[in-house]
Amino acid sequence: MNVLGIDTSCDDTAVAVVADGRVIRSSIVASQQGLHAEHGGVVPEVASRRHLEAIRPALERALVEASVTLDEIDLVAATVGPGLAGSLMVGYNLGRALALGRRRPFAPVNHLEGHIYSAWLIASEPSEPAPALPLLVLIVSGGHTELVLMRDHGVYQRLGGTRDDAAGEAFDKVGRLLGLDYPGGPAIQRAAAALPEGVEPVTLPRAWMRGGYDFSFSGLKTAVLHLVRERQPRLDSTQLDSTQVDAIAAGFQDSVADVLATKTAAAAREYDVRGVALCGGVAANSTIRERLWRALPAGTPFHVPPPHLCTDNAAMIAAAGYYRRSGAIEPAASGDIQPGLALPV
Ligand code: KG4
Ligand code: ZN
Repeated sequence: MNVLGIDTSCDDTAVAVVADGRVIRSSIVASQQGLHAEHGGVVPEVASRRHLEAIRPALERALVEASVTLDEIDLVAATVGPGLAGSLMVGYNLGRALALGRRRPFAPVNHLEGHIYSAWLIASEPSEPAPALPLLVLIVSGGHTELVLMRDHGVYQRLGGTRDDAAGEAFDKVGRLLGLDYPGGPAIQRAAAALPEGVEPVTLPRAWMRGGYDFSFSGLKTAVLHLVRERQPRLDSTQLDSTQVDAIAAGFQDSVADVLATKTAAAAREYDVRGVALCGGVAANSTIRERLWRALPAGTPFHVPPPHLCTDNAAMIAAAGYYRRSGAIEPAASGDIQPGLALPV
């Protein structure tokens, strides 16, 4: 079964074809990062306009690379939220129109559920088996930090989440404080990796939020702000020397990785899960991947997609649509927009 997936929730125009919920036949991601970099963040109006220009070429490339025609698509899945309203509308409307025009079912997909299903994606068959359920999932992206117990397909229990900034948002804000490129996540990872041998990362606080599985990153961000001010009274962080920037970046990354890994491993012990998955843009971070893997009880199956499938893409939306196809809108249905298959968060 071929599923066409579409995601335009933020600043990437993504279209993909996935076979049988797992095998990626094509995955096109037209990134707008360069467009927003000078503003230090995504400009919603600019994003939706660019989606309009980029979506059609992305669709054509996705079909060509998958060697399929629209007639060979069995189900269309598109992100319905959460995301930027104007951006979401571009992909959602295209998906809905294609499904109606071709008389195919349409699956509205929750973007976070999409991130979860990135753990199911594979490049080709034969492959490793699909994650076994129940699965503990840590979703860490630009807009969300959620620890979710996935008991079955479509059956989720939220164990905790951030009380303030999302993990990726914290990376992006701290990156800006340190005068690094946007987005801050990859830039902080690079800076931390560049820390000269023998220089210790700066020690920064950890918000443990004891007694549950919630997270908080705003105190950590404020600690970095104070540090930058202290070392650079004129608040011109470009005047921090590069070793100081690297040491703060490494200390920040350590703090985030430590809290995420420790709390996720504790949840894996408390709930009798058959595996743990790490998903979302921040899951591309090699320190966080490694730290979590080391913290888990020995032998726990650990599912973490390759970095390009951690960040936004449409293959994960196609996979989620496949597994939730029983909830799809059938072609005979009216053109009314249906609500997404929202996670109970
Ligand atoms: O999942 P995603 O692509 O988009 C959202 O749904 O938000 O996540 C984007 C976030 C950004 O905040 C970005 O800084 C972060 O993921 N990110 C990283 C890394 N690569 C991307 N954070 C830490 N380390 C990375 N290597
Ligand atoms: Zn995302």
